[in-house]
Amino acid sequence: MCGIFAVSGSQTNAGAVVIAGLKKLEYRGYDSWGVAIRREGKVVLEKQVGKISEAQHEFEPATEAFGHSRWATHGGVTVQNSHPHRYGRVTLAHNGIFENFASHKERIGTGTFQSETDSEVIAALINEHVEKGCDPFEAIQNTASQIKGRFAIILCIDGVDGIFAARRGSPLLVGRSADATYIASDIPAFLEHTSTVNYLDDDEIVWIRKDNVLFADLKTGKSIEKRNIDVPWSEEEAQKGDFKHFMLKEIFEQKETISRAINQPSELMKSAAEVLAQCNGVYFLACGTAHKVAATAEYFFADISGRKINVVAASEMPTFESFINEKTALIAISQSGETADVLEILERGKKKGAKIVSITNVEMSSVARISDVVLPLNAGVEKAVASTKAATAQMAICFLLAHADAELRGRGIFNVGRELLRETSTAINELLNPRYAEHIHAVAEKIVDRNNMFIIGRGSLYPMALEAAIKIQEVSYIHAQGFAAGELKHGPIALIENRVPCLVLGDDPETISNAMELKARGAKVIGISPTRADVFDEWIRVPDCDGAQSIATLVPVQILAYQLAILRGLDPDMPRNLAKSVTVK
Ligand code: G6P
Repeated sequence: MCGIFAVSGSQTNAGAVVIAGLKKLEYRGYDSWGVAIRREGKVVLEKQVGKISEAQHEFEPATEAFGHSRWATHGGVTVQNSHPHRYGRVTLAHNGIFENFASHKERIGTGTFQSETDSEVIAALINEHVEKGCDPFEAIQNTASQIKGRFAIILCIDGVDGIFAARRGSPLLVGRSADATYIASDIPAFLEHTSTVNYLDDDEIVWIRKDNVLFADLKTGKSIEKRNIDVPWSEEEAQKGDFKHFMLKEIFEQKETISRAINQPSELMKSAAEVLAQCNGVYFLACGTAHKVAATAEYFFADISGRKINVVAASEMPTFESFINEKTALIAISQSGETADVLEILERGKKKGAKIVSITNVEMSSVARISDVVLPLNAGVEKAVASTKAATAQMAICFLLAHADAELRGRGIFNVGRELLRETSTAINELLNPRYAEHIHAVAEKIVDRNNMFIIGRGSLYPMALEAAIKIQEVSYIHAQGFAAGELKHGPIALIENRVPCLVLGDDPETISNAMELKARGAKVIGISPTRADVFDEWIRVPDCDGAQSIATLVPVQILAYQLAILRGLDPDMPRNLAKSVTVK
């Protein structure tokens, strides 16, 4: 949530480098942007409302610059509220939430601020300490101790060389190339320059100058050494290539990503299963699409290993936190590994001695780093806000984990699960061709003018109905709702009237009966299933993948959501009001 990016080096086009990097972070927030360049000791600020991808600005030559792409939290979408903020000698960009900003703002003097943001108050506090004679590290340390909440900040101070950055709870990493140093909230910002990374941990600070990078502990001020890590992501992978949108590219990448996810070392899977075996209670925690994946995992575990797992949306977990103890396994599913609601529960759970397993796409993310076992998705960079390839990779890993659990409990064989997933991956591979997408496009054309849509599924296809609703809502803005097929007659059926499109996931006899009930009330029934039923007005075929059916069924649903967005003239990569990585609560 909010992209931040800085560069300091020997090149003189720092402003352009920052704009280019922010464009690659735009999925983190895209309502406004701003860049600060440092030129002959002075800070020059450019801030605009609108998407950074549309920015055309030309900057004067400079070797240092930083900027921000915003997803508004405090204050509306205005130039004043966009970052960086300038207060006194301090210019600052912030990602996170400064919970107790209001009291500091009042003390300093509300009238002295230009914006409604919490972030400008951080700049004011640092400035206050600088004016009192603190050196930059002390000023940032003192300010950090006044902040309640999460932050990643990048800043410069008039009269002091270089750029400073610090974090607590929000992601920040440093990229190192031969001629420059970069600081960003996500790797894609600097991937075209370098894939050598230092990860900043909580309560750490970094100071970058031309040829000098200094890391220190934010609480003690002591300098620290950081390991250079080479990330396996490539710049090419982070580009759209021949695809019009990242969402479509990522849907098609599922040809490979599912098989990459299942080629995990079996020992790693087994060590995660052992964590489950040693614990009394298992909680799967996730948000958004990842939460619907967790809901599918509940069916996988029940069917495959006979284990009852608890699935909780991470934001709802506080109610159940008293159940967490040293015999609890917390399984976090998070593509980004930075989602604040997930991270906070894990941090508190860890203090209580709970064991943590994470299923994440970013192996050095905050979630991964506090985990006892990390199961990487290996899906490559996912940029579209709507999660697609990460979701199917997460499902594949949950499916494997359930088989590893079954093997430990003497109820199944791990390799049988892996083999079924291999077959599923091959079947999805065959499905993903332009003709299939054209057929789904033709179906989308028939329903694109409708404002409401309902989706039903049974068993593990029920959470897929919920996920289908999220996909359709978020990219096409059609009101879509998913239901358990059998629940239809207990309320939702009252909403069915003439020509309302209803997606029916699956072709088992009970679901087909429910489809008939819909049809009898005038619904337009669209079946997404291995076989065609007479009740379907339209049919989208999915291969029969047995226990992994939910994974295969999700793929056409993703394509349908994409096609609906395109037909409605919307940009599926940047849906309104959303952001990819939600680092605020
Ligand atoms: C946001 C994204 C979703 C994602 C959710 C959880 O809402 O738009 O696509 O599923 O966050 O993100 P995570 O990175 O934790 O999987």
